[in-house]
Amino acid sequence: MLCAQGVAAHLMLSSLLLQLARASLPAGCLKVSDILSCSNLGLKWIPKELPVTAATLDFNHNHLARLEEDSFAGLPHLVTLRLAHNHLSNLSPGTFRNASGLRHLDLSSNQLNKVDNHYFQELVRMEELLLFNNHIVRVESQALISLSNLHKVYLSHNRLTDFPFFSIQEHSHPFLVTLDLSSNRMPKLPVEDIAALPASIQGGLFLHNNSLICECAMYSMFKQWEQKNFISVRDYQVEHTCLVYGEPRASVQFLKHTRFFENCTVKEQIQLGETENMKVDAGDSVLLECKTSLKGQQLTYKWVSPHKEYIVLPGNNDTMRMYANGSLEITAVRIEDSGVYWCMALDHQHSRNETWEVTITVTTHSHDPEPFNTGFTTLLGCVVSLVLVLIYLYLTPCHCWCRKQPLPATPSPANECSAQSSILTPTPPATTEGPGRKVCHFSRSSGKHSLTPDIWITLSTPQ
Ligand SMILES: *[C@@H]1O[C@H](CO)[C@@H](O)[C@H](O)[C@H]1NC(C)=O
Ligand SMILES: *[C@@H]1O[C@H](CO)[C@@H](O)[C@H](O)[C@H]1NC(C)=O
Ligand SMILES: *[C@@H]1O[C@H](CO)[C@@H](O)[C@H](O)[C@H]1NC(C)=O
Ligand SMILES: *[C@@H]1O[C@H](CO)[C@@H](O)[C@H](O)[C@H]1NC(C)=O
Ligand SMILES: *[C@@H]1O[C@H](CO)[C@@H](O)[C@H](O)[C@H]1NC(C)=O
Ligand SMILES: *[C@@H]1O[C@H](CO)[C@@H](O)[C@H](O)[C@H]1NC(C)=O
Repeated sequence: MLCAQGVAAHLMLSSLLLQLARASLPAGCLKVSDILSCSNLGLKWIPKELPVTAATLDFNHNHLARLEEDSFAGLPHLVTLRLAHNHLSNLSPGTFRNASGLRHLDLSSNQLNKVDNHYFQELVRMEELLLFNNHIVRVESQALISLSNLHKVYLSHNRLTDFPFFSIQEHSHPFLVTLDLSSNRMPKLPVEDIAALPASIQGGLFLHNNSLICECAMYSMFKQWEQKNFISVRDYQVEHTCLVYGEPRASVQFLKHTRFFENCTVKEQIQLGETENMKVDAGDSVLLECKTSLKGQQLTYKWVSPHKEYIVLPGNNDTMRMYANGSLEITAVRIEDSGVYWCMALDHQHSRNETWEVTITVTTHSHDPEPFNTGFTTLLGCVVSLVLVLIYLYLTPCHCWCRKQPLPATPSPANECSAQSSILTPTPPATTEGPGRKVCHFSRSSGKHSLTPDIWITLSTPQ
């Protein structure tokens, strides 16, 4: 009994001493208003008592090998946590419990070997997640799903062979603009899943320096991105390499040396981005969207019309109206409104900009009044034919024969008649439309050479 108490007391004492050791901040930590900087101090654990006012904790360049549960609980103002260059190989459940205010987390240059579903699930406000230069072989499919505020995720310089692209969607991650998966070990890309990503994410998806196997679908995707001038491709053109037949020694810079892909049918010709073509009927109104991958509160837009007229909010008060979302409405387009409309979206906060072009072709309603015209000309044609028929019946020398002897005809007068009748063609010449437009019928009685008086005419108007 005594012994047990002694052991318990001893345990309590030692844990108390440990608590004390952790209670005060390690020597060398600097506390500067809401920042606590404890970088490069050889620390093996996070101090227990952290200043409640801290918004930024910096533990970069230490020897942290594990993080305790609730390490960062009770810090209501904590927004930024720096843990880069440590020895962390995994994160136990509950590490970030009660730290849901975190928006920036730097775990780069550690030894993490995977990203489990539970790692960041509490961090629903997370905007920037730095995981580059670890040993990550796998990102579990639900690992980023609850992080709906993500803007940027950096996973480059890891050992990923795939990535759950399908778990990233516009509705689940509306703000995501950077997903860096470069310098990993992905041999194949799920091109369809990637093509289904919103343009804003595609525009910031970095995939260079993977061990991609050369293939048309992959090539075609990057070629499209190149034409869309995505920075991921523009700034890393030569780092986009693939292995011919998967052979590690046959690495091709496929955006520079395209010869290997000459037989690929490149789909992008059809769905080429950055410019859009629209056909509009004169008089209609048209809404031009300023498509951009930029997302932010402080986006502004401007348009330049084909006549080099600048259009900004609220529009030019005349025929073009602009909306806060950048869309430009042209009410009642005219032929002279045809041309290239160029728009620029500007993100002042991050000083970025993107452009977009819409080519408008205004057509006249050439086929609209047509039904009336056709009907009219057909009617006219029929009337003229009728008159001609009547003239023929009553005034031509032949009419007596035709009228009075509607009997099986002898060849010679019949020829005369048939010559006449061929002038009176059943189809009025004005009607040059298709067969469906023939609305004027002459019924000749069975004898093919005789034009009988029982002519009847049907007039119908086209629908
Ligand atoms: C952590 O959050 C839980 C609820 O999720 C709460 O009950 C608990 O008091 C919090 N702990 C601290 C230290 O804030
Ligand atoms: C490309 O990736 C390999 C390993 O995946 C890495 O060692 C190398 O540093 C990377 N190259 C660049 C230029 O980042
Ligand atoms: C492309 O097709 C042509 C003709 O079929 C062939 O001669 C050429 O070798 C092919 N190129 C590649 C890179 O496969
Ligand atoms: C209408 O817009 C033109 C430029 O497009 C401008 O010169 C003019 O002052 C505007 N008129 C009014 C009433 O705002
Ligand atoms: C922009 O706003 C206009 C007017 O509210 C709307 O008709 C249009 O659909 C919007 N465009 C986009 C891309 O949201
Ligand atoms: C748009 O961005 C480019 C660089 O990406 C820059 O050179 C240019 O000045 C920017 N234009 C405006 C109007 O900000």
